[in-house]
Amino acid sequence: MKQKAVLAFSGGLDTSVVVKYLQEEHNMDVITVTVDVGEGSDQKKIAAKARHLGVLRHYNIDAKKEFVEKFIHPAIKANALYQKKYCLATSLARPLIAQKVLEVAKKEKVSALAHGCTGKGNDQVRFDVTFGSGSNLPIIAPIRDLNLDRATELEFANKHGIPIDSVSKKFSIDQNLWGRAIEGGNLEDPYAEPPDDAFIWVKTKNLPDKPRYMEIEFENGVPVSIDKKTLNPVRLIEYANQVAGANGVGIVDHIEDRVVGIKSREVYETPGAMCIIEAHSDLEKMVHTKHENKFKSIVDQEWAWLAYSGLWQDPLKRDLDKFIDQSQKTVTGIVRLKLYKGGLRVVGRKSKHSLYRHDIATYGKGSAFDQRKATGFVELWGLQTTEANKLADKR
Ligand code: ARG
Repeated sequence: MKQKAVLAFSGGLDTSVVVKYLQEEHNMDVITVTVDVGEGSDQKKIAAKARHLGVLRHYNIDAKKEFVEKFIHPAIKANALYQKKYCLATSLARPLIAQKVLEVAKKEKVSALAHGCTGKGNDQVRFDVTFGSGSNLPIIAPIRDLNLDRATELEFANKHGIPIDSVSKKFSIDQNLWGRAIEGGNLEDPYAEPPDDAFIWVKTKNLPDKPRYMEIEFENGVPVSIDKKTLNPVRLIEYANQVAGANGVGIVDHIEDRVVGIKSREVYETPGAMCIIEAHSDLEKMVHTKHENKFKSIVDQEWAWLAYSGLWQDPLKRDLDKFIDQSQKTVTGIVRLKLYKGGLRVVGRKSKHSLYRHDIATYGKGSAFDQRKATGFVELWGLQTTEANKLADKR
């Protein structure tokens, strides 16, 4: 009997090449697993493609709700933006996909785990570390092992009759509920502007002439309603994506430091994430003390780094989650955003836990803040700074 391998399968170029490779070079039966993490991939088409490639069995696992609750919500609480820009859409989905692959591997008693990641990216780290944290099975990663490039893969696909759609020919795409990553093609020139046809979620032309306001309500750090509509966690993110995308909000274009050291030019569409994180972090500033704000931004950055760099399972990440969860007890309230022709701005916020006090902040008459007390405070606050400068003058 042939040995079996289970493969995380997206239906794209890389994973399709891997199916054929496992069958032909390793003489293995392939079980494909596609995990639906939302926004758009046609699961029926992917299943048909797997069958066309002659797999032994194909699993389609709907993990949208789990993805939102266990991965996106923690990321929102952590205001997670890697290098201040990237909302981690791909990074968050990988550990979940790998976990589902492991579940199938156990059920099917396979002898190897496989993925279609290259040796140049971050995804290999996320898959390998999740696989390694949950099993001792060998990992086969043909694209990496054979040092394959895209042109060679396309050739291989042609030779083996693997159908490739036109978008995959132009760009390498990865998408889920939290965002869409676009790589390759002319985007590899960091000075070249991405062509409009790279974007599917965010409108780039003929944008509405009127601003669109969006009201996001949070409870304990988690978005629960938008525009006064209580939506389930998956629907809420889809809704935010639609509204923001229609108003031109959500394109990110930046230079990213990958785990393996490569600098890459990354282009993303992350309309919903952009609005939700902007609103969430604004609300935090209103309800947290200045000490909490200062410290949490350090924790947030570390959290984003761990999630980005494939260390989702690290004990440090679990510890940070505990801290972050505790910090969200007061993050309840409403933030109002204004979206206009690609611009995004917070224009209002309110919370029952607000630490903002109009009576002391006001420049108007009758403030409860006695300015005279500030003199002594400032003198002590700057004591060492002024002293050091006076001494420096004498040196
Ligand atoms: N650079 C991002 C990350 O590492 C996105 C990768 C997207 N992958 C892709 N095959 N296009 O999370």
